[in-house]
Amino acid sequence: MFTRRAFLQSAGAAGTATVAAFTNHAAARLAAAAPRAAGRPAADLAEDEAYWRNIQDAFTLDRTIINLNNGGCCPSPRVVHETFKRYLDLSNQAPVYHMWQILEPNIESVRRRLAVEFGCSTDEIAITRNASEALQIAQLGIELKPGDEVVTTNQDYGRMLDTWEQRVRRDGITLRKVSFPVPPPSLDVLADALLSAISPATRVLHFCHITNLTGQIFPVRRICDEARRRGVQTIVDGAHAFAQFPCTLQDLGCDYYGTSLHKWLLAPIGTGFLYVRRERIASLWPLTPAAETRAKDIRKFEEIGTHPAANHNAIAEALTFHDGIGSERKAARLRYLRNRWALRLKQQERVRIHTNLDPAHSCAIGTVQIVGVPTPKVVARLWDRWRIIATPIVHPEYEGVRVTPNVYTTLEEVDTFASAMEEIVKSGAD
Ligand SMILES: Cc1ncc(COP(=O)(O)O)c(C=O)c1O
Repeated sequence: MFTRRAFLQSAGAAGTATVAAFTNHAAARLAAAAPRAAGRPAADLAEDEAYWRNIQDAFTLDRTIINLNNGGCCPSPRVVHETFKRYLDLSNQAPVYHMWQILEPNIESVRRRLAVEFGCSTDEIAITRNASEALQIAQLGIELKPGDEVVTTNQDYGRMLDTWEQRVRRDGITLRKVSFPVPPPSLDVLADALLSAISPATRVLHFCHITNLTGQIFPVRRICDEARRRGVQTIVDGAHAFAQFPCTLQDLGCDYYGTSLHKWLLAPIGTGFLYVRRERIASLWPLTPAAETRAKDIRKFEEIGTHPAANHNAIAEALTFHDGIGSERKAARLRYLRNRWALRLKQQERVRIHTNLDPAHSCAIGTVQIVGVPTPKVVARLWDRWRIIATPIVHPEYEGVRVTPNVYTTLEEVDTFASAMEEIVKSGAD
């Protein structure tokens, strides 16, 4: 009979991975995967299913559905979720003591680690509840007078555009939304679209590091350096960028950067951060007012009243999980998964890939259209027939299905999506 002991013995070199399977713990999964990764180029590891099998098992998922909307928000690995729950349980013992006295002060460790990861100083990073809050602090906190202009794109995030529109109505500023081609032939086209829109009235340039609609990456540093030279402040929407692919402040050079951590960092829902360039902190009004004595303190942006400490403290565990894989390796795997479906579907005559697949332009996210079939119908069909979750993108200039796999996505899931799309090309979505 094949006993558990015999099985463990026969596992030989794979013994560590086997033990991890029995303990079924996310941290053990990650540790088991580590030796396979040592010293190997990221592109090589991206195709090593034995390595990624350990990562896939670090999550508690519902594998009866295929979740290709990781652009919305993501499940946390088990180790992060358990940490989050442990902090909640601890808080609930006596919140005034356990949450305020024990957990809350440790937000400073999270700030320090995020600052290291992002490459900024600890006193330039505020921890927020999401990218919306982070960006709105910047959008609503900058002093602008009637007639001052903000330049953005017509593919920026809806809520962020709504925020500027409210300032148009309330403060009499003007908003200019530029268009750019999808997919753009070069990064220069993107820089030119924004920089050529700057006028003498322009005070702020607001744009995505990577768009949520097609996953287009912008040449942020080039744009920010030139804007700065012309005296224009820059707000970069990094909701999708942080922890999807390697990037630090060095690559950006912006004045303000807002991101969600419940997307690609896989932190608990309700986490994000705002970076503010040191010399801009004092002049930026917080959304939720703080005492004047804190005017130069980045923590003034965190005066939100009573809130759970569990969410933001569990960011530390998510950073540990992220670092355990490594940013380069994660990005290489995400590109590998994206290319697997995109290069296959590209062969179809009626398929348009709206994402430029060059690694300088994109990473995990891809948007694909089946010409002649309305996108909402494609998305409904994917769900009804295959239980695939994907996001319909319908923009005045183009439409398509946005597909965002994650590190836990299997090749079988990606291939099922590609086959489903081929089937819809052939037979329609009715
Ligand atoms: C480009 C972009 N900006 C901002 C946000 C807002 O993020 P959150 O909902 O986490 O605040 C999103 C959310 O999907 C986004 O895609």
